[in-house]
Amino acid sequence: MLSDKSRPVIQATLPVVGAHIKDIAEQFYRHMFTTHPELLDGTFNRGNQAQGTQQLALAGSVAAFATALVKTPGHLPENLLARIAHKHASLAIQPEQYEIVHDNLMWAIGEVLGDAVTPEVAAAWDDVYWLMAYTLIHVERGLYSARAVRPQTVWRKWEVEKKIPETEDVVTFVLKRIDDRVVKPSLPGQYITVQVRMPDGTRQPRQYSLSRADRGEQRQFTVKRVYGGGKPDGEVSTLLHTTVNVGDLLTISVPYGAVVLDDYSGRPMVFASAGIGITPIAGMLSHLAAAGSHLPIMLLHADHNEESVALRGQIVDDIARLPKASIYVWYEQGNDSRLPVRGVFPGRMDISQVRLPNNASYHLCGPVPFMREVRSALIDRGVPPRDIQYEVFGPELWEADYD
Ligand SMILES: Cc1cc2nc3c(=O)[nH]c(=O)nc-3n(C[C@H](O)[C@H](O)[C@H](O)COP(=O)(O)OP(=O)(O)OC[C@H]3O[C@@H](n4cnc5c(N)ncnc54)[C@H](O)[C@@H]3O)c2cc1C
Ligand code: HEM
Repeated sequence: MLSDKSRPVIQATLPVVGAHIKDIAEQFYRHMFTTHPELLDGTFNRGNQAQGTQQLALAGSVAAFATALVKTPGHLPENLLARIAHKHASLAIQPEQYEIVHDNLMWAIGEVLGDAVTPEVAAAWDDVYWLMAYTLIHVERGLYSARAVRPQTVWRKWEVEKKIPETEDVVTFVLKRIDDRVVKPSLPGQYITVQVRMPDGTRQPRQYSLSRADRGEQRQFTVKRVYGGGKPDGEVSTLLHTTVNVGDLLTISVPYGAVVLDDYSGRPMVFASAGIGITPIAGMLSHLAAAGSHLPIMLLHADHNEESVALRGQIVDDIARLPKASIYVWYEQGNDSRLPVRGVFPGRMDISQVRLPNNASYHLCGPVPFMREVRSALIDRGVPPRDIQYEVFGPELWEADYD
């Protein structure tokens, strides 16, 4: 807990730190990558740096945590901490690295706020940092031990067994294990981090949701090729599409991810996805089919048209094995379907067009505006926020209340 000495100082300085937090995060990364350039080789995602999203995520998370410490000290933001810890574990972050982040973050606070950072202010923010850091280190230690790994053994090589074209711009990779170390099955909804060497020699990590249940012998993930449309093309997705083939070795992490299906609740399940957001949902459906689930299940999916729905063969097979499952689709182009769907609608997803089951749990995945819209529509219909989980395909930008 925050010390009695730090609390009033944090309360008093939160608005000014909040007002400058983007600057602080930018200075922090710039300085850290100068003092520790090795972090740009295999640990940090330079696409997120270029877009500024990781800077916003870090800033938002620290501010949200500090706000919780002063406003609701008995109630720390568990979802935020879990999401960060899973991401860190999938990148093999080590406890010793928290010193590096500390030193650079405190430097950046001093640099941006100047004389306002008295020794008293610095000590109070130091207190906040280490409370957050030790909470994360503790959760991450548990995540490593649950998977029987250490940060040094998170990464291992797998062989590409299949490369399956799904649509014009989506491919599925099936990897098989090539060593005899213990491998645990993934949980429904989890992702792996893929680490590939780029043409400039630098390694780059990216997360991909596991799109099918596995027993640990294989891992399946499905990648959409990102075209820049004026900006640079996505570097890792393009490299995976164009240069990685059957027989090649890929370095991937053990599976992590905090948004997992709780199939013991006995409640109906509704999945809502758009575009490539189908991947974790396909993984969850595949787990439910493998477990012989009898729960009422609804898949709501939005896409350009039927040809652009990735993994549709697998999904239709899994739905057919689930006695109480149905699919509804929304297509921006056209409104007919050759798949065994219960309903097909033109345009964007509108959940008022279907009858949702009572007391269901919801999982969403797709572009952030899509998830925001569906989540708001569900909350308007009285669905409690705790029953709605969602996966973001990028850093989550926590929107904190700084005042
Ligand atoms: C938990 C999680 C699960 C995911 N699951 C999947 C999945 O199942 N399938 C899937 O396909 N993806 C998934 N993703 C997304 C994936 O991790 C990658 O983000 C995606 O493949 C793009 O990576 P890239 O290297 O191709 O693009 P990047 O090179 O990282 O580029 C990303 C974007 O940044 C822009 N950009 C790059 N450089 C600049 C610059 N200098 N200036 C301005 N803009 C720039 C690019 O134009 C592009 O739009 C997931 C992400 C997360 C976090
Ligand atoms: C208290 C300290 C820390 C905080 C508050 C923090 C916060 C965050 C947040 C909010 C994210 C984004 C999570 C998401 O939504 O995907 C993240 C990702 C990440 N963190 Fe940390 N972190 C801390 C310490 C560290 C340390 C010590 C390292 C190791 C050098 C590290 C490396 C990373 C990396 C590599 C990512 C992924 C970045 C990306 O994909 O762009 N973090 N962290």
